Amino acid sequence: MDYLKILKNKQLNGEIRISGAKNASLPLIAMTILAKNNVSMKNLPKVADINTLLKLLSNLGANIDKQEHCVVVNTTALHETKATYDIVKTMRASILVLGPILARFGHCEVSLPGGCAIGQRPVDLHLKALQSMGANIQIKGGYIEATAPNGLQGCEIIFDKITVTGTANIVMAAALAHGITNITNAAREPEVVQLCEILNASGVKIDGIGTAVLTIHGTNGSLININEFAVIPDRIEAGTYLCAGAITNSELTITSVEPKHLGAVLSKLEEMGSTFTLKEDSITIHPSKTIKPVKIVTQEYPAFPTDMQAQFMALATQADGVSIIEERLFENRFMHVSELQRMGADISLNGHTATVNGKSELSGTDVMATDLRASSALVLAGLVANGETDVHRIYHLDRGYDALEKKLGNVGANIQRLKE
Ligand code: UD1
Repeated sequence: MDYLKILKNKQLNGEIRISGAKNASLPLIAMTILAKNNVSMKNLPKVADINTLLKLLSNLGANIDKQEHCVVVNTTALHETKATYDIVKTMRASILVLGPILARFGHCEVSLPGGCAIGQRPVDLHLKALQSMGANIQIKGGYIEATAPNGLQGCEIIFDKITVTGTANIVMAAALAHGITNITNAAREPEVVQLCEILNASGVKIDGIGTAVLTIHGTNGSLININEFAVIPDRIEAGTYLCAGAITNSELTITSVEPKHLGAVLSKLEEMGSTFTLKEDSITIHPSKTIKPVKIVTQEYPAFPTDMQAQFMALATQADGVSIIEERLFENRFMHVSELQRMGADISLNGHTATVNGKSELSGTDVMATDLRASSALVLAGLVANGETDVHRIYHLDRGYDALEKKLGNVGANIQRLKE
């Protein structure tokens, strides 16, 4: 198993190119199930989750031709409709194949994703919406078995809660359904927007893209032609490197980024004292002498993302004063707290709220990554901790960060990937 060894850094300097967004790539890969042509995707990040989903499609019979950051997927020979436990257990987002496979074949089985490190994360909203579209759903032997022998029917869907993969799943199901589907309380994340835009450009008319009400005009079961596209930049990776700049008091430029996807993150960094130069596709963060405390509440886009909560907590340990961080999306997303405490952070937890008492002098030690974003918080803390920080179990980090140690190393961080 690999781990990261990080030595304290004074300052970083230089440019980091942001990769394509993992969370946009996953639904876009699932979307290829709706296509009748070779679908060519560019700007894919080189992360484990992408390989997992491509492997799942390949197991189902799809043809995959993967180069560095590009892939051509052809699902015309796809014949299996069962996503088995061995893959689903490693990545909950495998549930994204349920909507498109069911819409195309009238049958799909997906292993129940089960619990995960950051909370229960049920898929009841996905299933309820598919049932409204006429699917018959049964849970048998740990599998979701969905059937719709006469195809799915467009209908009115009101999500009780905003769900990102739930919205993506139902948009893909609705794309091949008979008639019109209205989704109210849809997710507005840029990753959902890109999925809708590509489908819309491929002949599936979608109204309301980027709003909470989507209207999808189904193709009555006809597969679609999808033109080549490039995945949008990863706003969470970008936010993480901006936090690396802020915590080390550095001048860092992140390139190939979409600044307008980072509104809430930039605004919180500004509150903490950072200043920026924004260009069309780059952001430069400038050194700021002190870090101010902050109040953060995680919410759905365009509010502050839960996927940046852990990284901001690491940053808050270096702020002069008391920061309050409230996690509203996931019930168990504070596992990085105990590891940060072991490094000397003063953090107290009360239910969904963490109180971070800054500024703490952090000390490097052995720490354990517990989930994807928690891992990057520990890396950020390691950049400013005295001595040496060893971050173990970085397979979590590898699920979603493309070449993190290389990107940070190129801007002067003292970070190495080693074998346990
Ligand atoms: C996606 C992102 C993840 C991010 C999260 C929230 C991907 C691959 N993952 O996860 O990085 O942290 O959005 O921005 O894009 N819920 C239910 N029932 C459901 C579905 C969701 O109760 O059927 C609840 C969840 O437990 C959670 C909330 O709704 O409390 C939001 O979850 P959701 O938006 O679905 O997260 P994911 O799509 O799994």
